[in-house]
Amino acid sequence: MKVTVVGAGAVGASCAEYIAIKDFASEVVVLDIKEGYAEGKAMDLMQTASLNGFDTKITGTTNDYSKTAGSDIAVITSGIPRKPGMTREELIGINAGIVKTVATSLIQHSPNVILIVVSNPMDTMTYLVHKSTGLPKNKIIGMGGALDSARFKYRLAEALDAPISDIDGMVIGGHSDTGMVPLASHATRNSIKVTEFISQDRLQQVVEDTKVGGATLTKLLGTSAWYAPGAAVSSLVQSIACNQKKMFPCSTLLEGEYGLNDICIGVPVILGKNGIEKVVDIPLSDAEKTKMQESAAGVAKTNGLLEV
Ligand code: 2OP
Repeated sequence: MKVTVVGAGAVGASCAEYIAIKDFASEVVVLDIKEGYAEGKAMDLMQTASLNGFDTKITGTTNDYSKTAGSDIAVITSGIPRKPGMTREELIGINAGIVKTVATSLIQHSPNVILIVVSNPMDTMTYLVHKSTGLPKNKIIGMGGALDSARFKYRLAEALDAPISDIDGMVIGGHSDTGMVPLASHATRNSIKVTEFISQDRLQQVVEDTKVGGATLTKLLGTSAWYAPGAAVSSLVQSIACNQKKMFPCSTLLEGEYGLNDICIGVPVILGKNGIEKVVDIPLSDAEKTKMQESAAGVAKTNGLLEV
């Protein structure tokens, strides 16, 4: 199993590290345009192998896509991260060109690759990859909902004073500060609805804190987060690589599901060896359906800024 990670920045390097530590891939190639940067990150990570107990071989390359040839899965993290006060959508002007170049370069050397898009604005970048590559829709996956769901669970555990392992919850919709749809009606603590443990007001605060989870960290860190994004995308890679058939909310091209067409937005999917094995239709409250439509309108507006 060969995995490529494009972008040796904090998110890409964290993703490569988590993939290596989970030790399910034979090879991880990290690629960056900055001279020597991916090579240095790969070497540093390989020097943790004896300490962290993995045999995955991590190599780095400066913009040589021939080194990525034959990749089964490729993760696109390249582009600029946001600064405090910025929205993810504001990154489109710079990141769209980068993502298009990266995606088309990857498929030249790995025509059967499964692409996972992390770069922001992620839903629109995922849509751009469809338009740029023509890969079948099961092979193009946007990572946002897995990260947002992790943040939702973190906030729920905090509100319930519960261990994270007791909590389950999912966030669908656009990966944006205003467009996320945390499914509060479905969230549980050990199969019991969380509304049995906290008030609606407290639950609404959890929802709001989740939606700005990325912006909160960007304000604290001065740049976008990297540990949780890296961990989230490595979990998607593992479900595909190991054919785990786990269900994650991922951005995928919808063709009528959830009443939406010609848009990439976060919905529950099953991830296996073929990438997106299926889109899962789950019951939504009327309020959640309305929020999904509003979220899709926001993503469509950002898509309209693309010059595809
Ligand atoms: C985040 O929410 C980078 O979009 C990513 O942290």
